[in-house]
Amino acid sequence: MRSLIDILEINTDELEQLIKTANDIIENPAKYSEKCKGKKLATLFFEPSTRTRLSFEAAMYELGGNVIGFSEAQSSSASKGESVADTAKVISCYADIIAMRHPKEGAPLVAAMNAGVPVINAGDGGHNHPTQTLADLLTIYREKGGFENLTVGLCGDLKFGRTVHSLIAALSRYTGVKFVLISPQELKLPGYVKQTLDDKGIPYTETTSLEEPMPQLDILYMTRVQRERFFNEEDYLRLKDSYILTPEKLKNARADMCVLHPLPRVNEISVAVDNDPRACYFKQVLYGKYMRMALILMLLEVE
Ligand code: CP
Repeated sequence: MRSLIDILEINTDELEQLIKTANDIIENPAKYSEKCKGKKLATLFFEPSTRTRLSFEAAMYELGGNVIGFSEAQSSSASKGESVADTAKVISCYADIIAMRHPKEGAPLVAAMNAGVPVINAGDGGHNHPTQTLADLLTIYREKGGFENLTVGLCGDLKFGRTVHSLIAALSRYTGVKFVLISPQELKLPGYVKQTLDDKGIPYTETTSLEEPMPQLDILYMTRVQRERFFNEEDYLRLKDSYILTPEKLKNARADMCVLHPLPRVNEISVAVDNDPRACYFKQVLYGKYMRMALILMLLEVE
C-alpha cells in the first residue's frame, strides 16, 4: 500500500506514466468511467479548498467511484479533540483511499502512518502540495513538451507557498532547469528549500523585481500572498499587493511564455490577463482533475 505525501515519492518514470495516463483519460474518458466502481474516496479537509477537494471528488466520480468526507474541521470530531491518527484509522474503515488537507505541516504523514488505506496529501500548512504540482507539471508538459532547459520564474509568497516548494522539488530533477525567485524580502524562499538547490548545483537568482527577469522566463508561476499564514494583519496588508501581473508587464515577456497560478487568485493577476494566450491557469485547474484521476488509479493499483 502506497500513499503520496511528498512529490519526490513519485520518481520521474512514474511521473511520465501518470502524464501518459492523464493524457489518455483526456482522449478516451469513457475507457475510465468504471475503473473505480465500488471504491470510495474520503476527502478530509481541515482547511478551506475549492479546487483540490472538488477536483478530487470530480476525479473519483469520473472514475465511477463514490465520495464521502468533510470540508471543514468544525464539522468533524477533530472539533471535539480527536487526533489525526485516530481519524485516519476510523476513516480507513469506510473508504478505500483518503485525500487530506490540514493546516499543520506533517498531518497527512501522520495520517498515512496510521491509516489502513492510501493517504494523499492535499496540502499541509506551508509545507507541500504534491497534487497541485501534478497539475502544474501536466500543464507545463502539454504547453512546453517537457521539463528540460526551462527558466522558471516563481513570484509572490515563496516563504509559505507550499505549491512553490513542491514544484521546485519536482523540476529540480530535470537537466538545464533554472529558477528565478521573485519575492519581497519578507517572503523569500525558505533556507531549507534553497539548500536543496545548492546541494544539487541548480542555478537560481533572487530578485524583488518582476519586470527585470520577465524577458528570460519560459514559465511564470504567480502565487497569492496568503493571509491565513500571517501572524499579523498589518504585515499581510503591507505585502499583499507586492506583485500584480498586468498586460503592460507582459509586453516584455516571450510570446510563448506560460503563466501559471495554483489559484485562488486575489489581486496578483489582473483579470485583463485572462484572455492572453499565455494565461494557462484555468487549463491548469482542468489538468489537475486528470492528474488526480491518474494518481487515484495508481495508488489503488487499478489497471
Ligand atoms: N490550488 C489550490 O490548492 O486551491 P484550493 O485551495 O481551492 O484547493
